[in-house]
Amino acid sequence: LKSSFSSSAAMAGAIKHVTVIGGGLMGSGIAQVAAQTGHQVTLVEVNDAALQKAHSSIQGSLQRVVKKLYKDKPADGEKFLKESLARITTSLNAEDAVKNTDLVVEAIVENLRIKHKLFSSLDKVAPKHTIFASNTSSLPIQDIASVTNRKDRFGGLHFFNPVPVMKLLEVIRTPDTSDETYEKMMEWGKNMGKTTVTCKDTPGFVVNRLLVPYLAEALRMLERGDASARDIDTAMKLGAGYPMGPLELGDYVGLDTTKFILDGWHKKFPNEQLFQPIPFLDKLVSEGKLGKKSGEGIYKY
Ligand code: NAI
Repeated sequence: LKSSFSSSAAMAGAIKHVTVIGGGLMGSGIAQVAAQTGHQVTLVEVNDAALQKAHSSIQGSLQRVVKKLYKDKPADGEKFLKESLARITTSLNAEDAVKNTDLVVEAIVENLRIKHKLFSSLDKVAPKHTIFASNTSSLPIQDIASVTNRKDRFGGLHFFNPVPVMKLLEVIRTPDTSDETYEKMMEWGKNMGKTTVTCKDTPGFVVNRLLVPYLAEALRMLERGDASARDIDTAMKLGAGYPMGPLELGDYVGLDTTKFILDGWHKKFPNEQLFQPIPFLDKLVSEGKLGKKSGEGIYKY
């Protein structure tokens, strides 16, 4: 009796409806994967143009998934595409969108003040059971949650770019996150088809805490003239077995994003040597050399 009761209670609490706030690079990927794994999704943006852009990026990405998974079954592929898209509704009003949702995943700009504004307003209107999560790369989850009255139902769900391709999900629990919230986030991550790892609310969680200092060291190495960019990348690909070299990866992630994360951490932890500013990186960013997206970073595209 006990186990059937607890399993039906778990079923009742399972996350079925997800609201994704922000339909940029990350949010559109999160909304897509949630829809293709059977969740009802509401995607929230700031204007129609942004919603339109998110929608066409999701459609294009789903078409690539269909091509790969349903190569020999085009009719099934068409059905999958249609059903996935039909699970996504869009909204320009976050407060309306969360009135009937189990989980909010926030993927808006990396700015604490703007995230605070959003979460304090949503906290007042979302149902009691609704879990709030941020996809932040560099801000402490506890700082984001501080403006809400649901710190026990608040955590981090950190995806990787491109979301439909990258298999990892970091699930972050703060000292306030309840066991139930943590377990629901883990379960949802698995239902999304991701492999989950549990992280504490420390700077960069696991992946970026290791990756950002590594990128920074590669930039410092180039700045000192120890080796050429090509040779640094070739060395790490063929010598360490990494699929991309650190400088290629920096260009892919965006040198402005790398600088932004490093500067934020440096401000918070001024004595940490690994987070010290890199004049060479600052110069590239000030010249508009941001990486692949601007046509030039360490390399030209
Ligand atoms: P992005 O700039 O591509 O997308 C952000 C979107 O949020 C924009 O489309 C913007 O219109 C929308 N937005 C801004 N304020 C909003 C509001 N109040 N309500 C609704 N929509 C709003 O940014 P991106 O790269 O998708 O990053 C989003 C978050 O994900 C950031 O917190 C970032 O740190 C995190 N992240 C980024 C990764 C990356 O590789 N770019 C990887 C993992 C996490």
